[in-house]
Amino acid sequence: MGSRIVATGRALPRTALSNKDLERYMDTSDEWIKSRTGINQRYAIRQGESLAEIATTASRIALERAGLKASELDAIIVGTVSSEYAFPSFACQIQHQLGISSIPAFDVAAACSGFIYAISVADSQMRAGDFKRVLVVGADALSTMVDWNDRRTAVLFGDGAGAVVMVTTPGNRGVLSSLLRSSGEHWHLLSVRATGVRSTIDSEVRRCADDAIQMKGPELFKIAVKSMEEVSRLVAERAGVKLDEIDLFVPHQANMRIITAVADRLGMPHEKVFTNIDRFGNTSAASVPIALDEAIEQGRIHDNSIVMLNACGGGLTWGANLIRW
Ligand code: ACO
Repeated sequence: MGSRIVATGRALPRTALSNKDLERYMDTSDEWIKSRTGINQRYAIRQGESLAEIATTASRIALERAGLKASELDAIIVGTVSSEYAFPSFACQIQHQLGISSIPAFDVAAACSGFIYAISVADSQMRAGDFKRVLVVGADALSTMVDWNDRRTAVLFGDGAGAVVMVTTPGNRGVLSSLLRSSGEHWHLLSVRATGVRSTIDSEVRRCADDAIQMKGPELFKIAVKSMEEVSRLVAERAGVKLDEIDLFVPHQANMRIITAVADRLGMPHEKVFTNIDRFGNTSAASVPIALDEAIEQGRIHDNSIVMLNACGGGLTWGANLIRW
């Protein structure tokens, strides 16, 4: 018995901030951001909005498309580093908003790789017979964790949530293989040394440099390309799938240059690579499920399509899931 994704959903904050909007806050330019990252705009949580509510909306959409009631779920697993509280978990907040109780609900903290990790955990527990129907969510609000005076990080991140409903399945469809990796020795390349969603771009109490995202971009860039290439090769090999048999590559949307470099190293034609970084920026754990939802909406994934999901992020963490749809 394996597991497969039967429905997806996404939800975003109300406000889109263009590169031009950011020019008002810091010494940057639309041209620099576009050419170095591929980003044109990102969505950012403003005062009065809640990421848990946005994630619950994405979850409701996925549940409705799956034809399931929240009360029929066996577990909720959320990839996030953006819980408003140290505890309770983000998953418990979604559970509460969905109006259900009893079932296990927990977070997986792997930064931008959170959704990839959460899919792997859900798949393993479903294979073990623990659960039959699982809601897996990727949600983050890194725009609330940047120092809006730091142009090297503030332009990169956006907020949002994506959700999928997974059910057990017989046969060889669904998650074929997952592979997770971490290297704690690189923790200092990307960190936020404080917890929780704290402020927004329009907040009077902004994060100061010490408790905002600290990132060594160029070092991270090189490791991200190498690790995402490596894990993609390994997960395909483990599943006995050749790279040219993959129909769609849905990578974490961190930087267009990272995505292109990984695709080129894998020999993946660019038309098989899904990107939407131009409109969302880097939404951390939300990036892959949001991309997956858009890919399905655009008719890029069909029954039996072989789809590779992969990501790399703070920890450092990285990983991939290979799925036969
Ligand atoms: N606007 C204008 N100029 C800028 C900006 C900005 N927003 N940010 C940096 N610059 C300047 C720098 O100050 C520097 O100027 P200098 O040469 O006068 O000192 C110049 O641009 C080049 O800076 P670099 O940091 O070397 O630029 P680089 O080409 O490496 O691009 C970037 C930076 C986009 C952050 C890149 O390194 C990157 O994408 N790294 C990966 C980071 C990432 O994706 N993090 C997300 C989490 S990890 C993950 O998801 C994989």
